[in-house]
Amino acid sequence: MGATIVLGAQWGDEGKGRVTDFFAEAADVVVRYQGGNNAGHTIIIGDEHFALSLIPSGVMNPSAVPIIANGCVIDPAVLVAEMDMLGGRGVDVSRLRISPDAHLIMPWHKALDEAYETRRGPGAIGTTKKGIGPAYQDKVIRSSAIRVQDLADPVAFRERVERVASEKNAILSAFGAEPYDSTDVAEDYLALADRVVPLIADTALLIHDAIRSGKEVLFEGAQGTLLDVDHGTYPFVTSSNTTAGGAVTGSGIGPKLFDEIVGVSKAYTTRVGEGPFPTELHDEAGARMVRVGGEFGVVTGRQRRPGWLDVVALRYAARVNSLTSLFLTKLDVLSGFDEVPVAVAYDVRGTKTAHLPHLAADLAAATPVYEVMPGWQEDISAVRDFADLPATARAYIEFVEDAIGTPIRWVSVGPERQQAIQR
Ligand code: IMP
Repeated sequence: MGATIVLGAQWGDEGKGRVTDFFAEAADVVVRYQGGNNAGHTIIIGDEHFALSLIPSGVMNPSAVPIIANGCVIDPAVLVAEMDMLGGRGVDVSRLRISPDAHLIMPWHKALDEAYETRRGPGAIGTTKKGIGPAYQDKVIRSSAIRVQDLADPVAFRERVERVASEKNAILSAFGAEPYDSTDVAEDYLALADRVVPLIADTALLIHDAIRSGKEVLFEGAQGTLLDVDHGTYPFVTSSNTTAGGAVTGSGIGPKLFDEIVGVSKAYTTRVGEGPFPTELHDEAGARMVRVGGEFGVVTGRQRRPGWLDVVALRYAARVNSLTSLFLTKLDVLSGFDEVPVAVAYDVRGTKTAHLPHLAADLAAATPVYEVMPGWQEDISAVRDFADLPATARAYIEFVEDAIGTPIRWVSVGPERQQAIQR
């Protein structure tokens, strides 16, 4: 597949962990390029469940080099804990490489994430409170950012932490939050430096050389298209570029080197946190999706909001990402519904549109226009050939790909690695 981006086509939690793990079997390099430990990727191999939040899911392939690239924000304690968890379960993490330019999530970022959320009151975003937004804020502000490479110089690191802590403590006191002791913070971080610094590498060069020498490189997106800070349902988004452009800036690879861009979508829709969600369900059908699909966040444990598949949103995802194909996950969860509605357009104050409204007020006013497809009752979890799916399930897939204009090349029918259909 050459250089392939796998990214979420909805609001995150589409099953990217299982999809990247599926593709990573053939990958030489796997790259995380945005976000931090707000992501939660679940991989199921036999009886084993792995929940990863920072290290690329492709780490499960013992011959691939996992990379955390410059576009990520890293909480070193989470990184080291994840390395230890994997190491303790026999997964080799020694090949992990980290960009010196990735930014560090500091304790005040988490405290400020919490403080900003409280202050937003009813307008809260519903963040994961992992410090993601405040860490990216510091990256853009520049003067108060601390990067992975800063861990390599303890003297300069202590000075930097002291200077930044005094500024952050002033802000925290305005929120009535506890200040941080800069010495404690610096020592806590430096205690992890000998686990992190040896992994620092020129990841952009590594990735570039791998692509140029014909290796398979998998770029693993976190969150989803509609959570992109520029192209998502702002302000109810995350603080990084989750769309395909994020793979370019977040890894240092020019756009022409990418071969495939695979969007991952559930066969229905979920969203965690606040924000518009036109096809959201508050009825028994939604409760059933949550129950059968196990729709609870990997990171925060929050119940995800369920809804029917939204082709308007997927068409938008296909456009902003230049998707070359789609991987549809969790089709098995839809077994047992008599009818399966799909949103094919929105009604915005009496006007029908096939496009995602570009104004937030219009999106908030949008109600879905459904095409109702017949459902199927069969358990499809053992199906491995498209032809063996019930005719109505095949019709659902064919209808959706036609409506989006992007081929659905894979369908998953269960959480296990092998429970997938390749068309
Ligand atoms: P933040 O990324 O913690 O700032 O949260 C911003 C928004 O993105 C919130 O609505 C979160 O629920 C959502 N979010 C962040 N990471 C994920 C994810 O991995 N899956 C789904 N939603 C996410």
